[in-house]
Amino acid sequence: MARRIIIDTDPGQDDAVAILLALASPEIELLGLTAVAGNVPLHLTSRNARMVCELAGRTDIPVFAGCDAPLERKLVTAEHVHGKSGLDGPDLPEPTMALQDRHAVDFIIDTLRAEPAGTVTLCPLGPLTNIASAFRRAPDIIDRVQEIVLMGGAYFEVGNYTPAAEFNIYVDPEAAAEVFASGIPLVVMPLDVTHKALVTGPRNEAIRALGTPVGKAVAEMTDFFERFDLEKYGSAGAPLHDPCVTAYLLKPEIFSGRHINVEIETVSELTLGMTVADWWGVSGRAPNATFIGDLDSDAFFTLLTERLAKL
Ligand code: RIB
Ligand code: CA
Repeated sequence: MARRIIIDTDPGQDDAVAILLALASPEIELLGLTAVAGNVPLHLTSRNARMVCELAGRTDIPVFAGCDAPLERKLVTAEHVHGKSGLDGPDLPEPTMALQDRHAVDFIIDTLRAEPAGTVTLCPLGPLTNIASAFRRAPDIIDRVQEIVLMGGAYFEVGNYTPAAEFNIYVDPEAAAEVFASGIPLVVMPLDVTHKALVTGPRNEAIRALGTPVGKAVAEMTDFFERFDLEKYGSAGAPLHDPCVTAYLLKPEIFSGRHINVEIETVSELTLGMTVADWWGVSGRAPNATFIGDLDSDAFFTLLTERLAKL
């Protein structure tokens, strides 16, 4: 039985690779893509999501536009990382497939109500605004979610947008706090693990050597995306943050982490959006998340490259 998922996304080069990996994997049934404002504004994330589907030849995937701003705050974006379009790097054509008429939040609610309880996994790759909005508007769907596997937060790595906070959580901390408090089985891919999924030169050349439009586009996305992290961290390549979510669905055994308590800072301006991860169990607060700290990066890239070759 394929894992049936909704990917909530703010493409974003790394989101794009996560979506492509899902589309290349028969173990996953992608029910729809819900776009959210994040890396770039909503009109671009909803455009980019469709461009990725067209790149993969999957115009059958419904794409929905969702929230264009966080629940209670002004939108913060990351063009300095992803470029003005959010998908800088490859020269991809404008999408011709249409956006769905329904709002993304309605799609999430309708799908969770229509499908058997416990059979749909939510995979947020951006700020959690759409997800929290769906839970606020339809609390009855919370118990129907099979699992949430998301990219966000940090512990040892601390923040990438502020000294304390990772971007996805920082953009909408109130939404993140509500999702982390939902009681839904939650797997978190923080910077601690995603900064170990680095697209080194040889790894990117193996993807480019696929010789396909997808291989070429992904290599060009990474060529663009890596410059920020090379300059900031001196890292050996671009970190593939969001594809860790898809890879976890496919091969959870290549990841390791701990089931701990994770709370979200929503008050202090100094540490707003921090994921306060009780890694050593000192708070006495009940565990609410499997917080991933490590992966077998060679196995990750072998999986990714093998699957991208199928598109
Ligand atoms: O901090 C990394 C996260 O923020 C990734 O999901 C990236 O796409 C951006 O959304
Ligand atoms: Ca993202």
